[in-house]
Amino acid sequence: MTIKIKTADELEKMRHAGHLAAQVLDYIAPRVEPGISTGELNQIIHDYMVNTLEVIPATLNYHGFPASSCISINQVVCHGIPDFAKKLKKGDIVNIDVTVIKDGYHGDTSMMFCVGETKPFAERLCTVARECLWLGIEQVKPNNTLYEVARAIQTHAEANHFSVVREYCGHGIGAEFHEDPQVLHYAAEELKEIILQPGMVFTIEPMINLGRPEIKLLSDSWTVVTKDRKLSAQWEHTLAVTDTGYEIFTLRQGETPFLPNS
Ligand code: MF3
Ligand code: CO
Ligand code: CO
Repeated sequence: MTIKIKTADELEKMRHAGHLAAQVLDYIAPRVEPGISTGELNQIIHDYMVNTLEVIPATLNYHGFPASSCISINQVVCHGIPDFAKKLKKGDIVNIDVTVIKDGYHGDTSMMFCVGETKPFAERLCTVARECLWLGIEQVKPNNTLYEVARAIQTHAEANHFSVVREYCGHGIGAEFHEDPQVLHYAAEELKEIILQPGMVFTIEPMINLGRPEIKLLSDSWTVVTKDRKLSAQWEHTLAVTDTGYEIFTLRQGETPFLPNS
């Protein structure tokens, strides 16, 4: 395993790519409403990426993935395939995950949306998943390890009686979409060996389940669902390790740290 340390020039390109990925989420947010299909959302995302931002949608044809975004509703953990027959309905929770390539570098980010009025427990799951992301981010600084990042995430998820998905993880990112290291979101011993250093760039993207942590891959070979078919939520940022801590490349307009109270 080799973790690439990015140069100042590469970091600048990744800062730009990350900002553009965040702009895609800001752009699609007002369109996430009951009645719109995930196929339509993906079409709007694709057109904005290609025509306005002039970026390459990284997921399109990536290992055969057929769309420019992943859109994952309710019990879908990740990698939901946009579909013109799949309409959002009031009460759904939905993750939209977008990755762009600009000037050869990737920016990868995702967020949850509550569609119309959502049940308090569903909203709570989305809130805790977002807090998990930020508690993980807060552990990013030189000489900390990925173990501290993962432990912060797992501790908060389980304190709220939720569970952490183990089969999918965050990842190094740069000229390639998925680079070393694997950023696991549960406290695996092996993470103690991954010492953070300035110039590393990776994603943190915890998938938090309402019920059991186990997942199942559907026969389309992409869609990942919870085995117990209960809800799952995920938030994702791309960030770099700096000399003093971290720099998030995929912050959205007006976004500030989202940490639990007290
Ligand atoms: N954006 C996802 C991630 O966070 C990866 C999607 S790969 C795809 O790593 F092929 F499913 F699109
Ligand atoms: Co990612
Ligand atoms: Co992503």
